[in-house]
Amino acid sequence: MARGVFDFSDRIAKGIPSPSGGRPGGRVRHDFTTAFPDPDSFPADGLLEALGRALKDEGRDLVYYPHPQGHPAMREFIAGKLERERGMKVTPDQIILTTGSGQAVARYVELLTDPGDVIITEKFSYSGTMGIMRRHGARLVGVDMDAEGLLPDALDDTLKGLETRGERAKFIYVIPTFQNPTGADMGLERRRQVLAVAQRHGVPIFEDDCYADLRFGGEPSPSIQSLDEEGSTLYCGSFSKIVAPGMRLGFMAAPPSVIESVKAIHLGATPSQFAALATLYYLRDHLDEHVQELRDIFRAKKDTAVAAVGERMGSRVECSDPDGGLYLWLRLPEGADTAAALPKARERQISYGPGTNFSPGQDAYNYLRLCYGHLTHETIREGIASLAEFFEEEGLLK
Ligand SMILES: Cc1ncc(COP(=O)(O)O)c(C=O)c1O
Repeated sequence: MARGVFDFSDRIAKGIPSPSGGRPGGRVRHDFTTAFPDPDSFPADGLLEALGRALKDEGRDLVYYPHPQGHPAMREFIAGKLERERGMKVTPDQIILTTGSGQAVARYVELLTDPGDVIITEKFSYSGTMGIMRRHGARLVGVDMDAEGLLPDALDDTLKGLETRGERAKFIYVIPTFQNPTGADMGLERRRQVLAVAQRHGVPIFEDDCYADLRFGGEPSPSIQSLDEEGSTLYCGSFSKIVAPGMRLGFMAAPPSVIESVKAIHLGATPSQFAALATLYYLRDHLDEHVQELRDIFRAKKDTAVAAVGERMGSRVECSDPDGGLYLWLRLPEGADTAAALPKARERQISYGPGTNFSPGQDAYNYLRLCYGHLTHETIREGIASLAEFFEEEGLLK
């Protein structure tokens, strides 16, 4: 038999996305697609120094497999950070280290979802999470939102509607802080209201808080989890946005019973102890100053991006002006189709996240997300000018 010709096509499990995953490959010059942080802010020297210390102290322990929940001192550090910054009382035993919040999302979804389950999301939500939910056979129901995110009355109506039909939502997935993609930031009162509605209907909340550190304006609110006295909120966070996605470090924080169940499916999947050690030793000494530096960088880039959209696209688009996070959310005139336009935009070296990626019904045709975190001010200005010119030519701004 010839080498390398075995046909796996009838062996690949149902529900696995097609090989391209619908995503065009390769980076282009003006790449606004992904929420990367700023490469110049990567703390290479600080991490190297921290890693040196960590290996002297604990390097010998790397010959052993890590604790199934991840490095104990790292989990202690996370518990302390969550208490100080997010008002949460969780013990290190309630934390599992993951390879980013993406893996935390995958674990929670795997744990909670049976095929056919209804999962509530915001009207627009993070494409990665929705992809995982769809792969588990979930039916996604989006709930209306405003500048503070999920609307409690709309959530109540949706849950009641399901109950009337004899259905119940399995859980509510919410990104309350600098919501992806809209940038919505949920205030304290709204958090209380959303939690109260969820609890009245007996539906747990999964709170994805991976942008909480990246606040450059407005007042911080404690996490929804911190307001929950029933223990019905599952939480995850990430170090991707404050250190780097390449470190692949995030975490889940959940009630002990949930953590025990997650451990059963997480076996052997603990993230690299090497990355955890470098991150822990670095952040123990530099967290506040590093995050402050990032906030200044992202505030300035956000201002540049918002100004460029205003200058180049004017009143024909609605554009968010978020107090944190790494992206803008734009609404073009009705009839525009940003997904259909994307391949041609890429030929012009411009890329963005089309609205369809961020909608539970995959139908937000006239929306798009622009990530500015990793681009220079000049590239942001140039790229938005080229994008406006392109949309103009293609008739998307009419
Ligand atoms: C809302 C949200 N959750 C999870 C992730 C996954 O990030 P990571 O796995 O790098 O922590 C992202 C990435 O952009 C995100 O925006």
